Amino acid sequence: MPKYMEEFNSPARLLMGAGPSNVNPRVLRAMSTPLLGHLDPDFIGVMDDVKEMLRLVFQTTNNLTIPISGTGTAGMEAALVNVLEPGDTLVAAVNGYFGVRLADIGARCGVKVAQVDTPWGEPVDPAALEAEMRKHPRVKAVCLVHAETSTGVLNPVEAVAEIAHRHDALFILDTVTSLGGVEVAVDKWGVDVCYGGTQKCLGCPPGLAPITLGPKAEYVLRHRKTPVQSWYFDLSLLSSYWGENRAYHHTAPISMIFGLREGLRVVLEEGLEHRYQRHACNAAALRAGLEALGLELFAKDGYRLPCLTSVRVPNGITDGKVRTALLRRYNTEIGGGLGPVAGKIWRIGLMGENSYPTNVFHLLSALETILQEEGYEVAQGRSLAAAQKVLAGET
Ligand SMILES: Cc1ncc(COP(=O)(O)O)c(C=O)c1O
Repeated sequence: MPKYMEEFNSPARLLMGAGPSNVNPRVLRAMSTPLLGHLDPDFIGVMDDVKEMLRLVFQTTNNLTIPISGTGTAGMEAALVNVLEPGDTLVAAVNGYFGVRLADIGARCGVKVAQVDTPWGEPVDPAALEAEMRKHPRVKAVCLVHAETSTGVLNPVEAVAEIAHRHDALFILDTVTSLGGVEVAVDKWGVDVCYGGTQKCLGCPPGLAPITLGPKAEYVLRHRKTPVQSWYFDLSLLSSYWGENRAYHHTAPISMIFGLREGLRVVLEEGLEHRYQRHACNAAALRAGLEALGLELFAKDGYRLPCLTSVRVPNGITDGKVRTALLRRYNTEIGGGLGPVAGKIWRIGLMGENSYPTNVFHLLSALETILQEEGYEVAQGRSLAAAQKVLAGET
């Protein structure tokens, strides 16, 4: 029998990389619910529940709040193509791989992109952004990645929002890695366009990108001079299917939306505050453990992301060898570096379903063993003790 005719049994991996993260079993069960038609009144009820719960998770009252069909990148595309028109100026605050991607998508919208670069591992610099804003007579939008997954940096979102608003520009925020794990307060911060992804801190598989548009962004969308360049991501059409009209646009990914509904229920049952606290606490324990192993954290102190910890690969250690050993012997995935930090850092995710002390201990102990085998000197058990101290509130 050819291999492709054999049943595929997925190994039960612990996904502690940069995403996807493991999925809550309740979400998987919800996804196997029998299908409904995409215009079925019962499915419309499910869509309404999803919109309502997304507003709670984004902390917004925005009317236009829906999941886009597609992964986080679909959210990026949708955010930019709906509010930008050829000839506009977009200022992109960039300090990692996903900031570069936003700038690239912006350029494909036919807009002038002014990129403000900060070195990877550091937070974006509000003073540099302010200086760039002053160079342009009119900036249509400023975009920022809240949680830069390529470096493990949590950017100073409120400072950037303030600059964007003072210059009367829209503020576009990527929360693919923060939504559901770190505070995302769309209304409080005055975010005009905000999008996320399902596969990180929301405990769902990849495939949907929740997005929300504030009144200013919706006004810009409704008063465009040119049609949105993407038919599939045109929010004026999509909002007709998700809003009052229920007019067919494309066949909604029904099972994914069942899954998202359950994932959001799980998040809200736990409570946002508790969830943020859990992510912060477990990340602090992981960081303490890694430092006790003698490893150097990559992201600048004070701007470290609770959902994803970046750490430098120590001298003399081969990145790939360690990650392969973790995968093959410990059934555990962690991420490597992207672009300029490929081979130089590891990215360890504690996102949603995975942000628990057991996973912190498991990873530290596996890493300690592997590093020792590779000739790296570690004081046995010190990292676990350091993590335990943090979790016990002793530091
Ligand atoms: C911050 C950020 N933005 C956007 C994306 C793109 O999402 P996707 O790979 O789901 O298309 C990612 C993916 O990891 C991300 O981390």
